Amino acid sequence: MEKRLIIAIDGYSSCGKSTYARLIAKELNYIFIDSGAMYRAVTLYCMRRNFISITAMNTRSILSELKDIHIDFVFNPDINEYETFLNSENVETEIRNMAVTSYVSRISQIQEVRQRMVEMQRQIGISKGIVMDGRDIGTVVFPDADIKIFMTASVDIRAKRRHNELKEKGVNIDFEEIKRTIIARDIADENRDISPLRRADDAIILDNSRMTIEEQMVWIKDIIDRKRNDS
Ligand code: DC
Repeated sequence: MEKRLIIAIDGYSSCGKSTYARLIAKELNYIFIDSGAMYRAVTLYCMRRNFISITAMNTRSILSELKDIHIDFVFNPDINEYETFLNSENVETEIRNMAVTSYVSRISQIQEVRQRMVEMQRQIGISKGIVMDGRDIGTVVFPDADIKIFMTASVDIRAKRRHNELKEKGVNIDFEEIKRTIIARDIADENRDISPLRRADDAIILDNSRMTIEEQMVWIKDIIDRKRNDS
């Protein structure tokens, strides 16, 4: 029987990590976990309980209710995708909204929140056969992952992709504004005290600035084949 792998995909925001990780998981028939969705779900919970606002964050209340936050990924056969559930409610769409996006980096800086997420992520990983994307998967969550990829692309390219994505959804945001947000997120991700974004020493860099998704799939399949033949 083929060895089931743990594949960690980390990297900068708007590099297409989730799209890529999802496709790899489908190709291998593995579970796909979008760890960013977990931080987003916690953020949504905190917003609904009024634990976070533009001016304040009630960390004590967040910590006291952390044990009440349950996150699951449930497969929806109608769309052939996993969706994020917060305490049994499907929140897949809501966690992608602008308000959650703007608060999530503050929530993901809380050490206890990160510890709880990492615990949950490792629990999901026990069964192997998993592709997980995030910022600290290869460095903290699964330091022994079988394959670690670190994704990057130029800021201009990432901003262009995000701009097109939003345009397709009918959202009209200035290109320079998107670029500024991406740069700010890079700085926040790389400079937070706990689990900052950094490439694991044994991660392979994938700069997809000039690659199509098909080319990226060919690239990873070769790495997967070699890994399977090695072990
Ligand atoms: O990948 P994303 O944009 O959905 O991530 C949402 C936020 O969560 C982002 O601010 C980075 C943070 N995050 C994190 O700190 N650690 C992870 N493993 C995944 C995401």
